[in-house]
Amino acid sequence: MGFVAVAPVSFPGSRHNLAVPDIATALSISLNKYAFGWHRQSSHNSSNYALTGETALSTTDAGNLTATSSSSNSYPKYDRLLPCPTHKFPPRIEHLVVSEGGPVLEYICKALDLPHLFVADLIQFGAVYFALVSPEPPSTATAEHIRIFKEVTEPLVLQKRASIKGKTIREAQKTFRVTDVNQFVEPGTYLRVHMHPKRFPRCYEIDWRSRIIALEESYVVLDKPAGTSVGETIGNIEESCATFATRALGLTIPLMTTHQIDNCTEGCVVLARNKEYCSIFHSKIRERKVKKIYLALAASPLPIGIIKHYMRPINMAPRLVSEDFIKGWHICQLEVLECRKIPWPTILVQDEYCVEDCGWPSQDYAYECKINLLTGRTHQIRAQFAACKAPIIGDSMYMHAAIAEMTNPGLNPFGKYKRDFISESEKETAEVNWIAQHGKEPRVAIGLQACQISWDEDEHIYKAGLPWWRR
Ligand SMILES: *[C@@H]1O[C@H](CO)[C@@H](O)[C@H](O)[C@H]1NC(C)=O
Ligand SMILES: *[C@@H]1O[C@H](CO)[C@@H](O)[C@H](O)[C@H]1NC(C)=O
Ligand SMILES: *[C@@H]1O[C@H](CO)[C@@H](O)[C@H](O)[C@H]1NC(C)=O
Repeated sequence: MGFVAVAPVSFPGSRHNLAVPDIATALSISLNKYAFGWHRQSSHNSSNYALTGETALSTTDAGNLTATSSSSNSYPKYDRLLPCPTHKFPPRIEHLVVSEGGPVLEYICKALDLPHLFVADLIQFGAVYFALVSPEPPSTATAEHIRIFKEVTEPLVLQKRASIKGKTIREAQKTFRVTDVNQFVEPGTYLRVHMHPKRFPRCYEIDWRSRIIALEESYVVLDKPAGTSVGETIGNIEESCATFATRALGLTIPLMTTHQIDNCTEGCVVLARNKEYCSIFHSKIRERKVKKIYLALAASPLPIGIIKHYMRPINMAPRLVSEDFIKGWHICQLEVLECRKIPWPTILVQDEYCVEDCGWPSQDYAYECKINLLTGRTHQIRAQFAACKAPIIGDSMYMHAAIAEMTNPGLNPFGKYKRDFISESEKETAEVNWIAQHGKEPRVAIGLQACQISWDEDEHIYKAGLPWWRR
C-alpha cells in the first residue's frame, strides 16, 4: 500500500483541480480505480466532503454512511455518481467472493478499499449484484479467481451452507441486484460490482415533461430522446426513460417497459403504469395489433415498397441480414411508404445531437423515408437499410460496413455479390471478417425516429414531435 501520486487533472464542470495529495492523505488508491469524478483534495478537512455531492435528485442517506468512515478522514473528495460525470470511463467490473460475513456495504468497502459513500451510491445506482454461489468464472479469469471459485463451490463447502438448501447450484448462481446497503452477505456469497456502469448523460439535458405525449390511466406514451435507454441497463437502474419519466410525472408507481427501441433511436415508447397493462400490451404486440411507423434518414434513396431480409438468429450486434432465405434465420419485413430527398443535416445540427460522421462519400442530400415496420426485430431498420446501400445517417455500426461492401463488393457473405465458399471454414472466416467491418454502436443519435405508434385498429394513435433533423 502506498499512495499513488497523480498529475493534476482537471475535471470539466468542476471548480477543482486534482492536486497531489499530501502525505497525511496517503491512500492506496489511484485515480483510475475510482474514476467516477473523484477528486483529491489538498486539504484534509473531511467535514465538507460529504456535502459536495449535492444533487438535484435525492440519492442515498449517505451523510450517515460517511460518518462511519470517519476513522480515516483521508478519503478524497468524491463527487457522487449523480449527476453524470462528463468523463467516460472504460468498463470495470469487480468479482468478489465473500470471505467474511457482514453487511454488504462494509464488505465491499473493505474488499475493494473504497469509501462508504461511493459504495452506497453504487448500490443505489443498481451497480451491485449478488448470488448465493459464484457463477463459473469465464476462461479469461485469473488463476486466483478460479482457485477461489473451486474452493467455495466444493460439494462439502456447499453442503454446510443453510441458505442454499433445497436449491440447485444453478438456482443458487442466479444473480440479483443488491438493493439494501445493510443486506447481510454470508461467506461464499458472490458479489459483482460494476465500478463504471454505462452512463446516459443525455438524461440530464432533457425536459422530460415536454416529452410526454400522453398520460393515460394505465400507460404513458413518451417521445423518447436519442441517447437514452428505455429501461434499466446492466449496473444502471437510474438513468433510463422509465425512471426520468416517472419522476417528471410525479408518479408513485414506477413506469414499466413494454417494448424496446434502440438507445440511439428517438420517438414513441409506451410505458405501462401497472403490471396488468404491461402484459396486455405484450399480448397486443404478439397478436400484431400494434402498428409502428418510423422515419429514417438514409444516405441513399430507396424504392417505395416492401423490403425483405432474413436475420441471423444470434442475439448479438451487429445483426447480420441476408437477402436470400437461410434456414433458421428470422424474416424481417418493412414497407417504405415514402422517400423524400432533403438536405443532409448541417454540421451544426449533427453536433448538437452528437451524430457521428461515418464517412459517407457525398453529404449533400439525404433521404427521409417513412416506414411501416411489419416485423419488429432488434436493429431491423438499421440492418436492412444498410444492406440496401442506404445506411442511416450517424449509424456508426452499419454505415461502415455498407461503405466497405460498396468499395469491395462481395465482402458481405450474405449480400448480392456473395461468393461461393468451398468450405465451411472459409465461410466462417468470411463471416468473421464481415462482422469486423461494422463499427461501434452510435453514442447518441442516428437518423431514426419511431414517429407513430397505434394499436387496436388505430383506436389509440400517438405521434412523436419533429425528428431531431427537422427541429
Ligand atoms: C473545515 O470545514 C468547516 C466547514 O466548511 C470549517 O468551518 C472549518 O473551519 C474547516 N476547518 C479547517 C481546519 O479548515
Ligand atoms: C443519521 O444520523 C442521525 C443522527 O445521528 C440519526 O438520527 C438518523 O436516524 C440517521 N439516519 C440514518 C438513515 O441512519
Ligand atoms: C442501451 O445501452 C445499454 C448500455 O450499453 C445496453 O446494455 C442496452 O442493451 C442498450 N439498449 C438497447 C435497446 O440496445
